[in-house]
Amino acid sequence: MLQANKVKIPVSVAPMMDWTDRHCRYFHRLISPNALLYTEMVTTGALIHGDRERFLSYSEPEHPLALQLGGSNPVDLAECAKMGADHGYDEINLNCGCPSDRVQKGKIGAIMMKEPDEVARCVEAMIKAVNIPVTVKCRIGVDDHDSFEFLNGFVSILKDAGCANFMIHARKCWLQGLSPKENRTIPEVNYERVAAIKAAHPELHIGVNGDIKTSAQVTEHLKTFDSAMLGREAYQNPYILAELEKTVFGNDNVLSRIEVARSMIPYIEHQMVDYGTPVKSITRHMTGLFQGLAGAKKWRQLMSTLPHEDGADARVVEVALESVVNNQ
Ligand SMILES: Cc1cc2nc3c(=O)[nH]c(=O)nc-3n(C[C@H](O)[C@H](O)[C@H](O)COP(=O)(O)O)c2cc1C
Repeated sequence: MLQANKVKIPVSVAPMMDWTDRHCRYFHRLISPNALLYTEMVTTGALIHGDRERFLSYSEPEHPLALQLGGSNPVDLAECAKMGADHGYDEINLNCGCPSDRVQKGKIGAIMMKEPDEVARCVEAMIKAVNIPVTVKCRIGVDDHDSFEFLNGFVSILKDAGCANFMIHARKCWLQGLSPKENRTIPEVNYERVAAIKAAHPELHIGVNGDIKTSAQVTEHLKTFDSAMLGREAYQNPYILAELEKTVFGNDNVLSRIEVARSMIPYIEHQMVDYGTPVKSITRHMTGLFQGLAGAKKWRQLMSTLPHEDGADARVVEVALESVVNNQ
């Protein structure tokens, strides 16, 4: 039976390894009170055998927040989905889109699209374990499995297993011969195939992902799809999320860039004192804040150097801000 829980948030920031950690998400949340935020992928092995608290902890304001899992064993995935739900996550997402060699060896990520029945068993087990939406992020195709029929077969099998929510990266990937980075640029985006899936399954939440860079593109995609997921643009030009607050969520009450930067100061101080987090681990996510404005280059340069100096603390943000304000 189709899972009753459908995701209703029209904009999300994609899961990105090494990028969308808790500090990045806190920063994004200051800019966007409404977007759905995703964690980096966490493998079931890391959660079951590693430092679970480190992988699962987050700050309350990060909600609504989805935990992305990487794994292919139904029992392990169910256990980890439950851990996520118990920790208060709002959604559990299964990664069926990552093409990296390392995850392929673990039989996780995009390679799983070739075994839809096994993915269905994983999803069934996860849905049984939790009362929050279980979603799947996938590609439109893998290697020579590159057709509407293939993608539709994958989605249909998971739908029968109860999955009602898909985030589809609108490009195929090559499991051999291309790096993960090349797999985000070389295969061409094909939004039409994702649209055909939405047309074939109007009852499903179909989110589209891949190369979305402007608020106009988001508005256009939302005419066809239930949501738009932004990855690189949201990271490199995070203030686009403020524009989306206005255009998609009708929220005019967004913080200015300067207010966002200043609001990070108490967070940085708190993280430094409570967890010994180096300031650079937080500020590295903030370098794109002034993208497109006079002073952006200076901000990026100061935020990439000052936090690395001995004894650096949250005051680096004020120092960098002064120079941006003087540049405008
Ligand atoms: C640095 C980086 C790390 C990524 N890590 C993940 C990941 O952990 N899980 C995942 O499903 N996708 C991952 N992706 C893919 C993104 O979620 C997204 O599907 C892809 O970047 C396409 O969207 P975009 O064109 O808006 O960037 C990553 C992308 C980047 C750039």
